[in-house]
Amino acid sequence: MEFLRARFAVVVVLAVVGSLVLDVTRASAVPKCRMVCDDGSNSDGRLTYDSKMDMNVRGEARRLGVDPYPYPPQPSPPTHRVAFSVARTTPIGPLPNDTILPFDFMFSNAGGAFDMETGIFTAPVSGTYFFSFRGQKRSAQYLMYLGLWRNGEEMAGVYEDNLDPLNPTPSPGNASNNLVLHLFERDQVYLMISDNAIAFSTVFGKYVGFTGFLLFPDNPYV
Ligand SMILES: *[C@@H]1O[C@H](CO)[C@@H](O)[C@H](O)[C@H]1NC(C)=O
Ligand SMILES: *[C@@H]1O[C@H](CO)[C@@H](O)[C@H](O)[C@H]1NC(C)=O
Repeated sequence: MEFLRARFAVVVVLAVVGSLVLDVTRASAVPKCRMVCDDGSNSDGRLTYDSKMDMNVRGEARRLGVDPYPYPPQPSPPTHRVAFSVARTTPIGPLPNDTILPFDFMFSNAGGAFDMETGIFTAPVSGTYFFSFRGQKRSAQYLMYLGLWRNGEEMAGVYEDNLDPLNPTPSPGNASNNLVLHLFERDQVYLMISDNAIAFSTVFGKYVGFTGFLLFPDNPYV
């Protein structure tokens, strides 16, 4: 009887171990998912980073039908490489009416979204963008006013109105402004110089300038 009980116990233990082995075998037969680990290596199929955030990312990626963790890492699409910086090398104004500010010097225009012909930046992708602009005044007669416009609406301005008719060579005034702005694809952003205003610039100083870049797109998978 003791012997039978012992044999039964051995059978139970073997059965349990066997089913564990089966489980492990089954688990390793599951197709490996490709993961990029924090150190950049490809994982062996086990989830190395399994936070709730990660689950959300993979759920969203599945919905959009894209690989959430492409390996090897892919370069960002051209629409994500958006950065321009332009300047004027000559003074401008006074003009009889408000005019979109033209630029003649390009520091960079990654993605080609800034049009030097028109002075207009057109957003290639919906997202959150950063813009910065500046101007200088060297005039006793005319003030300096530049506005940053989005689709026909003024968002921000720079202003210098230290007018002194008794001093024909006043100390130059400088002003700059910057903002984070949401844009939809094809939104247009440009600087406008006000009528009867001036903006001073030179080849060396490039005191009038306009810079912008994409911080992040609305849809990270576009
Ligand atoms: C603005 O002034 C320019 C001349 O500098 C002129 O050619 C243009 O027609 C004017 N535009 C408007 C809308 O008045
Ligand atoms: C503005 O910048 C110029 C140099 O470009 C400088 O000479 C001038 O003093 C500055 N103006 C003020 C008010 O700081």
